[in-house]
Amino acid sequence: MRLVLAPMQGLTDDVMRDLLTRIGGFDECVSEFVRITHTVHSRPTWLRYAPEIANGCRTSAGVPCTVQLLGSDADNMAVNALEAIKFGVDKIDLNFGCPAPTVNKHQGGAILLREPERVFQIVRTLRRALPDHIPLTGKMRLGFEDKSLALENAQAIAEGGACALTVHARTKVEGYEPPAHWIWVRKIAEAVNIPVTANGDVFTLEDYLGIKQESGCDSIMIGRGAVIRPDLARQIKQYEQEGYAEAMPFNEILEWIRLFYDLCLSKEGHNKYPAARLKQWLGMMKKAYPQAEALFACVRPIKDTHDIRAALHAFKA
Ligand SMILES: Cc1cc2nc3c(=O)[nH]c(=O)nc-3n(C[C@H](O)[C@H](O)[C@H](O)COP(=O)(O)O)c2cc1C
Repeated sequence: MRLVLAPMQGLTDDVMRDLLTRIGGFDECVSEFVRITHTVHSRPTWLRYAPEIANGCRTSAGVPCTVQLLGSDADNMAVNALEAIKFGVDKIDLNFGCPAPTVNKHQGGAILLREPERVFQIVRTLRRALPDHIPLTGKMRLGFEDKSLALENAQAIAEGGACALTVHARTKVEGYEPPAHWIWVRKIAEAVNIPVTANGDVFTLEDYLGIKQESGCDSIMIGRGAVIRPDLARQIKQYEQEGYAEAMPFNEILEWIRLFYDLCLSKEGHNKYPAARLKQWLGMMKKAYPQAEALFACVRPIKDTHDIRAALHAFKA
């Protein structure tokens, strides 16, 4: 079995990817989407999205990081992809799922699922442009308004030449509202001849067992659940290997939170970044840990970056 950390723009940036892959359980992670419009990105831009490029496309824990592209101009996406490869990118994923109105307005993300032929053209153009040794994958939702084109879109991605597909088991209109329709991932997996990764609403070990059973997939992508419970992937791996899973106690999680904050602090030129990211993360972790709620309440009013660090270290779980 294989676990992938989901791309989440504004959430799983390089620091979060670094931290979660250090905690363990993940076999791969994916960068936040890099939006391709009419320009060609420079090396600093690629490195900003995926600093892992400078480390052989791996996080510091050695977990491979795929770079995700989002766009609708196939030719310019191909030019950008080739440029990215020149700088060291070694695997590319294409986004056919983003629900953001600004992105959809420019014909990017989930809106493309209304037109399987365009999906096919984009994948085929990139596949033809890229060297054979560079894997190209796709990530899709079940559709835009409804699921009527789900199988056609998946087939378009496979026939266009992608070597694997991730399916977020919801339409664009369904947003992030539960439930995720895991059974649809099974239908898609049966309709294409490439490996399929199932994604959507895995927040606990039980959810993992559920998605695996309903989708029939052995490869699972986890997004929000991995941020809310940073040891979730590790628990799942332990369960698969040893038949039981031990959740990490909060005092250990606290050590990881402190490391996360220090990693944020070490990023240059971001005055507000460490506090913003810490508060964002604690705000999500509150759902799983009462102690995270107490810690959040403690750091929330503090403005000074170094005072926050001191509070993190003074906090007793
Ligand atoms: C804040 C946020 C940002 C996201 N950004 C991306 C993105 O950049 N690329 C992408 O393919 N999916 C993106 N997604 C979708 C996730 O990768 C994933 O498909 C979705 O959250 C469902 O998985 P989950 O229930 O495990 O979170 C994003 C989701 C969230 C919540």
